[in-house]
Amino acid sequence: MDLTTATARFIEQKFADEGSGHDWAHIRRVWLMARQLAANSPDANVEITELGALLHDIADWKFHGGDYEAGPRAARAWLESQHASEELIGRVEAIIREVSFKGQGVETPVTSLEAALVQDADRLDAIGAIGIARAFAYGEHKGRPMHDPAVPPVRHESFASYQKSTAPTINHFYEKLFHLKDRLQTPAARAVAEERHAFMEAFVARFLAEWDGRA
Ligand code: ADP
Ligand code: NI
Repeated sequence: MDLTTATARFIEQKFADEGSGHDWAHIRRVWLMARQLAANSPDANVEITELGALLHDIADWKFHGGDYEAGPRAARAWLESQHASEELIGRVEAIIREVSFKGQGVETPVTSLEAALVQDADRLDAIGAIGIARAFAYGEHKGRPMHDPAVPPVRHESFASYQKSTAPTINHFYEKLFHLKDRLQTPAARAVAEERHAFMEAFVARFLAEWDGRA
């Protein structure tokens, strides 16, 4: 079995009963999208891209006491157990460090094409119909209200401030989801984002109209 297939099986088993928005279904979608983006990028290393996508949420800091190195460390342990080269492990670790959104005012530069593709694929899964469903699922998981007109959206200028947000779910659209299409790295991902973004805008407009009894 090749390393990509072995990694997919390992992650599928590890995330089988995870309900926090970082489930196998999310990782699988990111993997397939990243693979598709890589297939259309002649300079991309497809194996590195696929491994980065499969391992990008292996140990999210949000569920590991804010430890940002938990993810790269867990990926390294897995890849070492498969006798992967030090060069490959370093490249995958870098992708995991670079992928996350960290607030509207916080830049998230990437140091490789493969990290750009995984970051784009992960962001595409946070918008559109799936993105809407994931946002409400996350809000529910955290016990947040769907909407509270008395709580205005905030522009987070630091990762710390973004992490501390306990805002209602509708605010998350203004604090993250509506900005993602302009934070994509590749033209192919931007093309996919258009329709998803428009759908999300229509959804929120309709939600607010119904909330106010205007529709
Ligand atoms: P990603 O997997 O894209 O890096 P996160 O780990 O930040 O995203 O979050 C997982 C999912 O939960 C995403 O769809 C994201 O938009 C959603 N989410 C994260 N924070 C919030 C929040 N405060 N309110 C609602 N949804 C959220
Ligand atoms: Ni993700």
